[in-house]
Amino acid sequence: MEWSTAFTEMFGVRYPIVLAPMGGSAGGELAAAVSRADGLGLLGSANGDAEWLAREAPIVAATGKPWGIGFLTWSIDVDAVDLALSYGPRAVMLSFGDPSPYAERVRAAGALLIVQVCDLEEAEQAAGLGADVIVAQGTESGGHGASRGRSTLPFVPAVVDLVSPIPVLAAGGIADGRGVAAALVLGASGALIGTRFQATAEALVEPATTKALLEGRGQDTERSNVLDIARNSPWPSKYSARTLGHPYLDHWRGREDELAGDPQARRAYQDDVARGAIPPLPIWAGEGVDLITDLPSAEDLVHTMAAQAEHALTQTGRP
Ligand SMILES: Cc1cc2nc3c(=O)[nH]c(=O)nc-3n(C[C@H](O)[C@H](O)[C@H](O)COP(=O)(O)O)c2cc1C
Repeated sequence: MEWSTAFTEMFGVRYPIVLAPMGGSAGGELAAAVSRADGLGLLGSANGDAEWLAREAPIVAATGKPWGIGFLTWSIDVDAVDLALSYGPRAVMLSFGDPSPYAERVRAAGALLIVQVCDLEEAEQAAGLGADVIVAQGTESGGHGASRGRSTLPFVPAVVDLVSPIPVLAAGGIADGRGVAAALVLGASGALIGTRFQATAEALVEPATTKALLEGRGQDTERSNVLDIARNSPWPSKYSARTLGHPYLDHWRGREDELAGDPQARRAYQDDVARGAIPPLPIWAGEGVDLITDLPSAEDLVHTMAAQAEHALTQTGRP
């Protein structure tokens, strides 16, 4: 099947499948594998750490395929964006925070600007700033997103209608080719996928994380601020994170203010990490985690999802 969407045309890629720029875990090998497979690989540069970028960016740049770099907008400054642009990415993606100080810089350097949004106000702002692509993130997503997020199914077409003709990528709960097909049916030009790509051979994750993703169930995931507070993370409270179950969630659910005001409890978290009672990092995972049953290479995964999406799009509604 010939895939042709506004997104594939803009980037010159074959498949409307994008690796989410997962902070730390979407490194050079993973982004390179997705770009080599003719999707779009985005590096998860998070706060723009220079050493991390120097190690990971050349790996994906060497593919000669389109690729990009994603940031947590609230955690960066213009120097981080300039440094990223010096590696020659086709796109820079900005998520979670005000993209306006960086939008013109990205576009002036000749890169495409992708902005991830969690509500219609953010979508309108991104369109006004001249974003080339807008990612509509539903609350089913793994990792961070709006504390008061919207569900992917109704949110994506609402964003598509609002920002037309800007191409939209759907994100949140998409973990196989049926989800990719659904994104296209909703009017999106592609799917941006995180959680599923964490369980691939190239992802920069610990084996214990891979095992938890393979065993995890969507119903065990939870969106909460508790783990960010417990680990003294500077995430703005407007954003919470969806993770697999965790003892601190059970203990502090609904008592976030108390936890924030209790330095001893937060020290206990560090002690529990140090003695191996809890994992060093939360296991960020979306509701699509049920669909993860194997640990393929990312290149194979892109091809499998494309074949599944083609099947879904051509066979749906037939007996
Ligand atoms: C482990 C993990 C880390 C993430 N880190 C980032 C990040 O650093 N920057 C970002 O823009 N999005 C990040 N996200 C969110 C993704 O961009 C995307 O919205 C999400 O993965 C889509 O939902 P899915 O996980 O159900 O596919 C992360 C997601 C996960 C699962």
